[in-house]
Amino acid sequence: MIKYWTPSELKTLRRLREGFLSGTAGNANYWRAVEDLALYDTTFAERIGWKWDGALRELTLRQWSPKSRHILDWGCGTGIASRRVLEWWPDQFRSLSLHDRSSAAMRFAAERAHRENPKLTVRMGEQMEPDTLLVLSHVINELPSRDLSRLMERAREATEIIWVEAGARDESRRLSEVRDRLLGDARGFVAVAPCTHQARCGMLTAKNEQHWCHHFAHPPSEIFQSASWHQFSLELGIDLRSLPYSFLVLQKSDELAPTAPDFSRVIGKPREFKGHDKVLSCHEGGVTELMLQKRDAPELMKALRKGPAAPVYRWTLEGGKIVGAEEIGGAMDSTSLPE
Ligand SMILES: C[S@@+](CC[C@H](N)C(=O)[O-])C[C@H]1O[C@@H](n2cnc3c(N)ncnc32)[C@H](O)[C@@H]1O
Repeated sequence: MIKYWTPSELKTLRRLREGFLSGTAGNANYWRAVEDLALYDTTFAERIGWKWDGALRELTLRQWSPKSRHILDWGCGTGIASRRVLEWWPDQFRSLSLHDRSSAAMRFAAERAHRENPKLTVRMGEQMEPDTLLVLSHVINELPSRDLSRLMERAREATEIIWVEAGARDESRRLSEVRDRLLGDARGFVAVAPCTHQARCGMLTAKNEQHWCHHFAHPPSEIFQSASWHQFSLELGIDLRSLPYSFLVLQKSDELAPTAPDFSRVIGKPREFKGHDKVLSCHEGGVTELMLQKRDAPELMKALRKGPAAPVYRWTLEGGKIVGAEEIGGAMDSTSLPE
């Protein structure tokens, strides 16, 4: 049976969205009823899950997987972030801690996690085992500076961090600042992704003030045939095709990050012109816009416009222009990745 959203459900979805967009969501607990959580879980959280799929697929292509045995999902909401991590690496973890200022959210997330992973120890609270992957998702614009600093104190205790945020400018630039603060710390984090290097974030220089580190996820094609997603999109004014996100992955280990620093990470989508594109590229040396002419590398131009799963390349440059590239994980068959 086709599910259509009722007027009261749409009212709740609009209220939640207005809070997220206006930056007022952090002021007070907005989960008024368990129904709010269930509605969020099947709509906004689904979309967030597709962003997580994008980030986790890239990590796999870049040959990274977590070594930690425990997860702390901080600001868990309905728990979509830890759910995706557990689906992606089903045999890696022994326990999951779920933390949120809303106890209803923690209960919702814990029930689902327990149902889907009966062997996993699931707890509610902020406790951090010594060997913990900290997952964070769509919380940064709900935290005033004081709370963000407190969260960073917690983050310093983690062994690994995967943090996914909306791909908007403010959230992304705040995440870049978090990156630089945590990398500058004596307790030894290494940047794994999206960065290919350990230098300071090139986005935070004055010349790149108009840019921000963001990427685009690919929503599943079935949603474009779904009546309820169509109604959701029309009623809330959300373009289902556009799924920008920012992310940050750090690890505390003696091992080097798996991506060699002579690779570059493409930021966002290329700017398309007749016969050439401009590609914003992040590298140890900084963030620079590079020219790519169709006549030099037509297949590469096509791939970049489509949006590869891991837009990480070792460029061949001539006179500051891209004339060729080696793609990371090029030899890997994408059908071998988890669905
Ligand atoms: C937009 S929701 C995101 C939920 C989930 N991480 C996701 O990606 O779907 C933000 C969550 O952060 C929680 N939150 C906001 N401020 C918080 C704080 N100071 N401490 C703990 N949780 C907080 C909210 O209750 C909410 O569940």
